[in-house]
Amino acid sequence: MTARTQLAGTVRPAARLRGRLTLPADKSIAHRALIVNALSGGPAFVEARMPGDDVFSTAACLQTLGVSVTETHTDGLVHFAIEGDAESNARLDCGNSGTTMRLLSGAMAGRPVRVTLDGDASLRARPMERVASLLRAAGADATTTDGRAPITVTGRSSLRATRHRLPVASAQLLAAAALAGLAADGETAIETPSAVRDHTERMLAAAGVPISRDGLVTILRGPSTPRPISTRVPGDTSAAAPWIVAAAICADAEVTLVDVGLNPTRTALLDLLRRMGADVSSVITGDGPEPTGEIRVRGGRRLDPVQVAGSEVAALIDELPLVGVLMAATQGPSELRDASELRVKESDRIATTVAGLAAIGASVEELPDGWRVSRGRPRDARITTHGDHRIAIAFAVAALAGVATGVELDDPACVAVSYPGFWADLAKVSS
Ligand code: S3P
Repeated sequence: MTARTQLAGTVRPAARLRGRLTLPADKSIAHRALIVNALSGGPAFVEARMPGDDVFSTAACLQTLGVSVTETHTDGLVHFAIEGDAESNARLDCGNSGTTMRLLSGAMAGRPVRVTLDGDASLRARPMERVASLLRAAGADATTTDGRAPITVTGRSSLRATRHRLPVASAQLLAAAALAGLAADGETAIETPSAVRDHTERMLAAAGVPISRDGLVTILRGPSTPRPISTRVPGDTSAAAPWIVAAAICADAEVTLVDVGLNPTRTALLDLLRRMGADVSSVITGDGPEPTGEIRVRGGRRLDPVQVAGSEVAALIDELPLVGVLMAATQGPSELRDASELRVKESDRIATTVAGLAAIGASVEELPDGWRVSRGRPRDARITTHGDHRIAIAFAVAALAGVATGVELDDPACVAVSYPGFWADLAKVSS
């Protein structure tokens, strides 16, 4: 069978998956590169291949704040030239991007500006009191709307050095507290309950800010102004994930992902797949603030059931809908626990993943903090994405890899939030 890839069409199982892909720019790194350079005053540039809509949300917000962000587009590569300070009071549209909202709230807490940050219906449903309370602890004024967006931050040029203990393992909260800490006089310490991605530490350290992570505690000594740091953003590890999962499940598959981020705080999916028995290899070929390299996955191996829980959850956070699909390719039972944080992502990803798995014929049970799943009888399904890019991508992969016999998505275009070229890449690797 051939994978049909029209935007509004049905995705069918691929007979073979083959090829080499370059991926869209890592959005976590791109947000930080844009914001840190804006805080530096520039001039600096950030180069990003085919970035998703979320990255453009951050660039547009910075522009609204008075920073000059000039975009040049060449062959899918976007060159952002950044210069000038964020000085204006503003109302910011963060679109669908929680990272834009939380990181900019933190960054603006240390500036003498008043900003209101808002977003689309999905973003307005997500918890923002957590970030507001961190900023208030550091001396800024931050208010939410019944705990959610819109959130208004009135910043101060000088904040309090604070010791934060985050209630959840969230890299976005860590980043917000660290960016506010740039304006604090003394040591800001941020402790997370388990390890999260460390892009904030890497980007700020590369920009000359005294920051380090020791175990689960990040320490930043302020006040500090980042130096401009021109950078090229590597391919998104989370955009590699759909191809890694599809190739691991497919009998006839060999896929190579090139120029992809291999930051060890982002590669838990590779470890999980090795534990399941998949044929996965990776090699670091480039070093900078962020390690980059190649990932190769060959299919054809039987995958063992897995249990995912505890500290592994934060490390796999964006990959969990795909992990649900992987689990549904095993004899089972496989289980995800300790993942309630998934309920406050772009959709309630426990509910949306479980509904999708049930629709494609897997045997699945929803748990308060995860799911239990075994292979079922694959069938055709129409999937409700709730506008969530990770759900759309996970269930396209379910069909591509034969965990469903066919999947039609209600909103295939929502993949553009993180991966605008997803459908083109699907056509490229499948036959
Ligand atoms: C992100 C952190 C993760 C992730 C999000 C991007 C970041 O969220 O889900 O897509 O760039 O810091 P949390 O760590 O806040 O849960």
